[in-house]
Amino acid sequence: MPNTISKSSDAIALEEKYGAHNYHPLPVVLARGEGVYLWDVDGKKYYDFLSAYSAVNQGHCHPRIIQALIAQAQKLTLTSRAFYNDVLGRFEKYITEYFGYDKVLAMNSGVEACETGVKLCRKWAYKVKGIEENQAKIIFVENNFWGRSIAAISSSTDPSAYKDYGPYLPGYVIIPYNDLPALERALEDPHVAGFMVEPIQGEAGVVVPADGYLKKAYEMCRKKNVLFIADEVQTGIARTGKLLACDYDGFKPDILILGKALSGGVYPVSAALTSDEVMLTIKPGEHGSTFGGNPLGAEVAIAALEVVKDEKLAENAFRLGNLFRERMNSFIQKNDLVKLVRGRGLLNAIVIKDSPDSETAWNICLKLRDNGLLAKPTHGNIIRFAPPLVINEEQLHECCDIIEKTIAGFKK
Ligand SMILES: Cc1ncc(COP(=O)(O)O)c(C=O)c1O
Repeated sequence: MPNTISKSSDAIALEEKYGAHNYHPLPVVLARGEGVYLWDVDGKKYYDFLSAYSAVNQGHCHPRIIQALIAQAQKLTLTSRAFYNDVLGRFEKYITEYFGYDKVLAMNSGVEACETGVKLCRKWAYKVKGIEENQAKIIFVENNFWGRSIAAISSSTDPSAYKDYGPYLPGYVIIPYNDLPALERALEDPHVAGFMVEPIQGEAGVVVPADGYLKKAYEMCRKKNVLFIADEVQTGIARTGKLLACDYDGFKPDILILGKALSGGVYPVSAALTSDEVMLTIKPGEHGSTFGGNPLGAEVAIAALEVVKDEKLAENAFRLGNLFRERMNSFIQKNDLVKLVRGRGLLNAIVIKDSPDSETAWNICLKLRDNGLLAKPTHGNIIRFAPPLVINEEQLHECCDIIEKTIAGFKK
């Protein structure tokens, strides 16, 4: 067998035969990326309008991040936390000052960082708040998504995530999203220790709550001595046009969870950030990960965060996000296939006027691919549009042209 797979069909056939069938990828086989662009194995160029679910905010193979990766890879990559390394402390100082927290706990994937948030919350409940052992509860909202572990799917309301994986973890309370009276009722239970929520629900289809919902929810939690855990794995790090999506509501969550773009799209790094009071409830040996906080990831994450600041990616996402929604909103006035566009910054979605189980969104994504733009449906008839934040105005207009032309010419 040749070393390089030169044809899409060969690559797809290999995955089909030897890989688990746990994803349903759009049929395109990518071989190269740079900035906002991807190329397939045949050399066809595309705009990336997914950014690996917002993990590639800084653009593909950003030279500064790749340089950090290479330089550190040639020195030291992994020691485990059995020993100190000479990068982790520097990363911890950098990221805590960057986001304004006392301490950070570094992990790898988003789900691990979210689970760290849940564990911190439970520990704090027993050690500080004084809830009786094993009685702590955490409130989640319907249609949340925070990954695929048993702890994560135990809070899921999506059967495709949780079905046939039971029994599930106890101690969770599920309420509707964007529903303050429901939160108020749930907070009456004295066993509640935390409320974990995405500021914008990404996987659910870029669902933006009412203005002020998050701030009010935060204040209600404060009043009941309940920790507000913001899952900013997808929304954080400039994606929504501010450094954090919670910044729109002007408050600082008690526990902040980051992942995805902390990697610069290069090497998985995730983190839970919080106060001394919460973080120091976990003692040596009580939580961790072999790879969490390794020097390679730490160096990559510093570079990834520097790029966000130095290249003003939040400002760019804010400005171009407004432009994108303006264009889409005026387009959908003239088109009856699209019901609405919603989002913040460069995390947006269009909702197709068709039944949620029809193939329309998928088929539009196939046509978008043919026209040089890669996007993916999320939950029924919703298409998420989330390009790398390094996109410029001219490129964004070209992408809007592709989207409009594709949808205008689309026949079911
Ligand atoms: C909001 C949110 N939290 C957590 C996760 C889980 O991240 P990971 O897939 O890196 O485990 C995701 C992934 O899509 C996410 O969107």
